[in-house]
Amino acid sequence: MFNKIRLWKNQNNNSSTLREKIEEVRKLPVPEHVAIIMDGNGRWAKKRALPRIAGHHEGMKVVRKITKLANSLGIKTLTLYAFSTENWKRPKNEVEYLMKLPEEFLGTFLPELIEENVQVEMMGYKDQLPVHTLHAIEKAIEDTKNNDGLVLNFALNYGSRSEIIDATKKVLNDYKSGILKESELNEEVFSSYLMTSNHKDPDLLIRTSGEIRLSNFMLWQLAYTEFWFTDVLWPDFREKHLIEAIEAFQNRQRRFGGI
Ligand code: IPE
Ligand code: IPE
Ligand code: MG
Repeated sequence: MFNKIRLWKNQNNNSSTLREKIEEVRKLPVPEHVAIIMDGNGRWAKKRALPRIAGHHEGMKVVRKITKLANSLGIKTLTLYAFSTENWKRPKNEVEYLMKLPEEFLGTFLPELIEENVQVEMMGYKDQLPVHTLHAIEKAIEDTKNNDGLVLNFALNYGSRSEIIDATKKVLNDYKSGILKESELNEEVFSSYLMTSNHKDPDLLIRTSGEIRLSNFMLWQLAYTEFWFTDVLWPDFREKHLIEAIEAFQNRQRRFGGI
């Protein structure tokens, strides 16, 4: 599939295939953990006089494309913000559709994800999810648990402030029961109480649709992440945009407070 796509002109003005571009990008360090706030589905639909859910459906196809590319690029973890703890405020029919998307997505693409050695994970509050949504995700997690390629981590019913409060409560409990001493609590230990305990912090954050905010996403984990914003709406996001973001990342100088 990649060989057919000719999108880039190299210095000699020859077009290069996506496969060649991937090889070129992989010569420099690629971000290990990329997080994406997939935004703009509603506006994409509105522009076409379609219902908002048509935008979510279209966005799902982009998840597939971007997952494949992330895997080919050697990215280790791709965290996708799919539903926030605040998104329950939306109209009932939209929420219902969003809760059906994991089944629709995994129902179609799980065999492909298994074949491509992708591991599915989820972070977020499972308790409030409909049983059918949770079931689809848990099946995908189970069916891909022995894979060791890209980790595709869905942030579903995820909210960073709640996550931090819950982590704090667990810390207090462990302190009270003597498992954790006050002197032992540091940034690394606190991180281990978060939903991302098994992942390194994101190296690169992408947000689509022109909004320049975090919307309660990974507030602790993004402390030293490189940010890349684009006006492109999520359903219009393509391989070339991810490549562009990664090339921008490769040109950044990360200092972490040093010089
Ligand atoms: C992102 O697209 C998907 C979710 C938040 C679930 P939106 O639905 O927020 O699209 P806009 O921002 O209204 O265009
Ligand atoms: C953030 O997008 C949540 C997801 C992409 C899942 P929103 O569309 O909900 O964010 P706001 O409301 O514009 O901040
Ligand atoms: Mg939005």
